[in-house]
Amino acid sequence: MEERLQKIISGAGIASRRAAEQMILAGRVSVDGRVVTELGTKWDAALHEIVVDGRPIGRQERRVYFLLNKPKGCLSSAKDDRGRKTVLDLLPEVRARVYPVGRLDYQTEGLLLITNDGALMQGLLHPKYEVEKTYLAEVDGALTEDKLKMLREGVPLEDGMTAPAKVRMLPEKGRFSQVEVTIHEGRNRQVRRMFAAVGCDVRRLERVRFAGLELGELARGRHRELTESELAKLRALAGMADEEGKR
Ligand code: URA
Repeated sequence: MEERLQKIISGAGIASRRAAEQMILAGRVSVDGRVVTELGTKWDAALHEIVVDGRPIGRQERRVYFLLNKPKGCLSSAKDDRGRKTVLDLLPEVRARVYPVGRLDYQTEGLLLITNDGALMQGLLHPKYEVEKTYLAEVDGALTEDKLKMLREGVPLEDGMTAPAKVRMLPEKGRFSQVEVTIHEGRNRQVRRMFAAVGCDVRRLERVRFAGLELGELARGRHRELTESELAKLRALAGMADEEGKR
């Protein structure tokens, strides 16, 4: 749950709300390694490391990192008001308050990173780091050279032109084209909308790579913890390389 920083500090019994505000203004408080001097910012103490005068406050959960092979027909949000199955239902033994890093559509399969490390999540999703995601799309409709060129150079969507993408044709599967698409933007339903913009329908979509991570032999619906070396690479991609060793 997100709360104002001064409320978190006072709630942890360190100081009154007023004194906590003074501590923030004086530069004595940092969140995820960065000093925060504004009073209005809100954070979730379970997801972010809040340090006052060099000491972490409260009880923070151990950071955990899972790679999930999401099946079709489940939501990639943490919970659903309508009681539909979510990706977190696939990790029943994980007690930490984890979240998916970004979203995959209900019917999209494949690689989804799940963690309670809010700083890593923010870095990986921040547009400035241009973290790459690769999708395998099974597409109905002929893909001419012109259409491939448009997909590569940018197509007009209602929320603006897409950035250049890497697009590679793979051998056909029956009457469907198979295309590998690598993008670094993270717009809603982006790959499906890109193909729709060139008159093609995506009938199956799978994310096969994210931020250098690959599914390997991981079966659909299964998950595993990241290795130390995978995590180190993710931190570097998310601009956190210099924070290695602080954790
Ligand atoms: N693009 C889509 O269209 N759907 C996804 O789930 C991910 C990327």
